[in-house]
Amino acid sequence: MLLLLKNKESEVIELKKNIVGLLFSLGVILVGITGCGEAKDTGQGTAQSTIETVADKSGKEDSETNQETVADSGTDVKAENQLDDHASDSGETNILIAYFSHAGENYNVGVIEKGNTEILAEMVAEITGGDLFEIKTVNEYPTEYKACTDVAKQELNDKARPELAASVDNMDQYSVCFLCYPIWWGNLPMAAYSFLDEYDWSGKTIITLNTHEGSGKAGTPDKISKYLSGATVIDGLAIQGATAQNSQDSARAAIEEWLAELGY
Ligand SMILES: Cc1cc2nc3c(=O)[nH]c(=O)nc-3n(C[C@H](O)[C@H](O)[C@H](O)COP(=O)(O)O)c2cc1C
Repeated sequence: MLLLLKNKESEVIELKKNIVGLLFSLGVILVGITGCGEAKDTGQGTAQSTIETVADKSGKEDSETNQETVADSGTDVKAENQLDDHASDSGETNILIAYFSHAGENYNVGVIEKGNTEILAEMVAEITGGDLFEIKTVNEYPTEYKACTDVAKQELNDKARPELAASVDNMDQYSVCFLCYPIWWGNLPMAAYSFLDEYDWSGKTIITLNTHEGSGKAGTPDKISKYLSGATVIDGLAIQGATAQNSQDSARAAIEEWLAELGY
């Protein structure tokens, strides 16, 4: 009987989690209906980036609510070799960790001093020895969650490319970029596209790392791959924002395992 009750309880928890995902998904679908495709028409199918899939160890789909995607055991060998090939000869790091992250009031975590994605980006920088770069917009986003979602939705609908406050001046130095971002309305924040627009990505490898509250990766590695020309996009890791914020040991363990799979 007790067991039955426990099962019921966990079903209710699961149901709650699924509702969170469904709410975001619904929002995403609505945004999708209003026409927000981000694929930039390069006009040349062959010029597009290739995408390497780092499969999910849990074997679960991105859409699974609140399910963190943890690095897989079956990392694409080609992807690992490509990373090895990118080893720097100069002694300077060839790894850039570029992140977009928003502190203030956020979904499921209350008011936070440091954004969920920023926490993870810092871990990656610490473990890999790469350089951190913040993708920051000139016009800051509202601190209040609802107001921020409104601005973000408008930007998505407009396919806006918000102006960035700073650039990476020595991009040639980097052959690997961990691109870290939260899912905003089922997509990358538009500021991340502004960042991608600024550089020539040919020959470089982009590894995705994102946080979310139910949407997983929301197909963003594929979106990046379609958007860019000439880069190799590695379909990376998704971690729930609340885990990054409130269970940092567990987030770090997932990051360490994933990076080890990638050869770091
Ligand atoms: C404007 C906005 C839109 C969001 N849209 C989604 C979404 O579509 N799917 C999802 O799972 N989470 C969504 N979230 C939640 C964030 O992805 C999640 O809280 C993330 O961890 C925030 O990372 P940050 O603190 O680094 O900004 C959204 C949050 C904001 C502020």
